[in-house]
Amino acid sequence: MIRLPGLIDPHVHLREPGATHKEDFDSGTAAALAGGFTAVLVMPNTQPPLTDEPSLKQAQAAAKSKARCDYGIFLGAGADNVATVSSLASQACGLKMYLDQTYGPLRLEGLAVLRDHIGNWPADRPVAVHAEGRSLAAALLIATLYERPLHVCHVSRKDEIALIRKTKEIGLPVTCEVTPHHLFLTEDDVPKLGAGRGEVRPRLATAADRDALWANLDVVDCFATDHAPHTRSEKDGEDPPPGFPGLETALGLLLTAVSEGRLTLDDLIIRSHTNPRRIFGLPEQHETFVEIDLDAVWEVRSSGMHTRCDWTPFEGMRLQGQVRRVTLRNKLAYADGEILVPPGYGKDLSSVTHQQIK
Ligand code: DOR
Ligand code: ZN
Ligand code: ZN
Repeated sequence: MIRLPGLIDPHVHLREPGATHKEDFDSGTAAALAGGFTAVLVMPNTQPPLTDEPSLKQAQAAAKSKARCDYGIFLGAGADNVATVSSLASQACGLKMYLDQTYGPLRLEGLAVLRDHIGNWPADRPVAVHAEGRSLAAALLIATLYERPLHVCHVSRKDEIALIRKTKEIGLPVTCEVTPHHLFLTEDDVPKLGAGRGEVRPRLATAADRDALWANLDVVDCFATDHAPHTRSEKDGEDPPPGFPGLETALGLLLTAVSEGRLTLDDLIIRSHTNPRRIFGLPEQHETFVEIDLDAVWEVRSSGMHTRCDWTPFEGMRLQGQVRRVTLRNKLAYADGEILVPPGYGKDLSSVTHQQIK
């Protein structure tokens, strides 16, 4: 048995408000605790998207009454909130910009709106982007010209990680994350998963892309699940939405890599605790830790999971290393399959951050 600090997942979709049949603050934060995460940063592509004060208040109220682990909430950059969203910056863990088509309506078209959002957002608050291929080059250039730090979500391809390495080499304040699914799956897994279940953005890439992520882990700041739950029937139906659940499998996958000597525990702690906390300016969670059985071998089964989506792309995989107990702010929050803290136990870390910054 070993102890890790409480893990932080900087990229999670909890679907509240608007699509709580997929997930809500209760089920999603239960899944987080079961996966060893004591804090999650949640994305704004909800229904409605979190782009203004009423929608942010709606998400804050749901989180306050339902979250079981700690959380921060991202605001979304839209075409219609360029002038207004920065007034809410102190209540959010960052601004999320979507430069490519994914799930939901929050895609930014054109250069001007991207420039204005980056220029208007407070320089000391994080900006995260979904930007693939040439969108990534555009986002990096604009952040550079406006001297803003930029966090690049779910880097998935060889040419993208090479571009980020180059950007870091010349000293620009760019950070990035990779997902377990891009580290452990490739496009060759799509036939086995089925076409609908295999849909995710960024798409599963080639084996060469996956290998490039592993080979460039030194420039990867964070692991992030991009937990994007859609129900099994939605994934198997007409017009399957893109996204994979990941909160309850990420740590097992990463610990398996540790057991195989492909990663060290320090590598994991830096990318799942130290760096997310630093990049998003999160306060320390006191008396918070995760107890792990490094020798336990287990088989991934969606049937025992806490997420509401009822499937996983890692079904049947044998993993080594399992979460036994999670203690959050001196309270036993999870033990051997059971969630032990009630909805409402989780705290909003965005506003605490703000108090510390002031
Ligand atoms: O596959 C994805 N699903 N990629 C995204 O960027 C959004 C996410 C979702 O919200 O379902
Ligand atoms: Zn994304
Ligand atoms: Zn996402």
